Amino acid sequence: MKKEKNDKANICIIGAGYVGLVSGACLAEIGHRVVCVDSDPKKIAMLKKGVMPIYEDGLQSVVKKNVKAGRLFFTNAIKDGMHHDGRRAEAIFIAVGTPPRDDGSADLSAIEKVAEEIARNMSDYTVIVEKSTVPVETCEWIYKTVTRHNKKHIPFDVASNPEFLREGTAVRDFLKPDRVVLGCPSRQCEHVMRKIYKAMKGAPLLVTDVKSAELIKHASNSFLSTKISFINAVAQVCEKTGADVEMVAKGMGMDKRIGMSFLKAGIGFGGFCFPKDLEAFYWLSRRKGYNFELLKTVKDINEQAKLWMVKQVQDELWNLEGKTVAMLGLAFKPETDDMRFAPSIDIAAEFKRLGANVRGYDPVSQENAKSVIKNIYFAKDAYDCVAGADCACLITEWAEFGRLNMKKVLAHLKHPILIDGRNLYNPAKMRELGFTYKSVGRH
Ligand code: UGA
Repeated sequence: MKKEKNDKANICIIGAGYVGLVSGACLAEIGHRVVCVDSDPKKIAMLKKGVMPIYEDGLQSVVKKNVKAGRLFFTNAIKDGMHHDGRRAEAIFIAVGTPPRDDGSADLSAIEKVAEEIARNMSDYTVIVEKSTVPVETCEWIYKTVTRHNKKHIPFDVASNPEFLREGTAVRDFLKPDRVVLGCPSRQCEHVMRKIYKAMKGAPLLVTDVKSAELIKHASNSFLSTKISFINAVAQVCEKTGADVEMVAKGMGMDKRIGMSFLKAGIGFGGFCFPKDLEAFYWLSRRKGYNFELLKTVKDINEQAKLWMVKQVQDELWNLEGKTVAMLGLAFKPETDDMRFAPSIDIAAEFKRLGANVRGYDPVSQENAKSVIKNIYFAKDAYDCVAGADCACLITEWAEFGRLNMKKVLAHLKHPILIDGRNLYNPAKMRELGFTYKSVGRH
């Protein structure tokens, strides 16, 4: 085995999705030698050619730079990732998918398979790091699984190192985190984990026990979802009382204990993290004997937030049968091509159920949208999207929608109706232009 300078680690990351690929690229960026493993041969072939399987700002340049520097590698085989070019990985990060089952619990079968394979290929003390978002106690299951298949009794630990990156700003979030949480079961494990993150200058480290680390992730995502649903509920009261939710949020957020972020009212949260994590945390709490009703309410408010859009359109157009609705934006938020659990999916389905024709346009997620939203017209640009439509609905606050020529939008629409689900436009300006304009919790 070749010897490395001991402040840099040999790392293997299993799963080259959002979390795995960004983590791998960024750990290479801070100087470690990283091998990313994914079972999808197409994905690995793309990555080897420098083509990113996801749209993520800045990722391609970090990947290319580190591949060129000889710090980042890609392979299909876990065995190869763990023992790459004569170097043994001292830390193996698991970042494979944990999709939700029908009952809301997380499907952890991919993690189990990976754990078995790691066990079969360990040759010296190894830290197995759980990075996928998983229910508390998953690390314990990984430990049991590895122990069962570790026939040569190689020493190992299982650590929890939850990821807090956001899609769209993932590279920045990884390299400049608010905190790095390290759930370590032993001193030896803590030593390896500290060495890995030491290179990330200035990142506050919180070293804790494994279960607390696992729970920090669940609790953080659920708390942020709660903040969003809270402000969306406040927005409903604002609509009924004549208050302005943006002012209310500002006034609340100026209190440092509350903070400004995640108080933007709109048509609800989507994406692969919040809806899934909320469900999983609720499910897990119930299984453990605690009925976490608050989380259920947070989810209910989010479902209502999506339907708010449909109700506004009905209030303006009455029957939707045969009418045409234009949806500007389909991704669950700007700066991502991710369509998973995007509010647009449920909103489009409801419009279709009510008999409307739907036109949709998204600057980046259009191709991904085609596989999850069926039987709608996908427009070539925003103006094409609103052409001849009875009303326009702003679904995702892409910057390009803020720069649209609104007079042109008005001229393209059959009726001058604009429903703004993300409070992107200025109400007074829109009315001045001649729109019948509605937004969330504002007048
Ligand atoms: C979220 C968390 O913010 C990350 O910290 C976490 O690591 C990640 O989940 C994960 O678990 O992997 P992400 O799903 O990328 O990140 O997106 P966010 O930027 O948090 O937005 C989530 C949703 O909330 C979006 O649909 C967004 O439109 C909505 N949102 C956000 C609001 O409606 N209002 C707000 O004020 C903020």
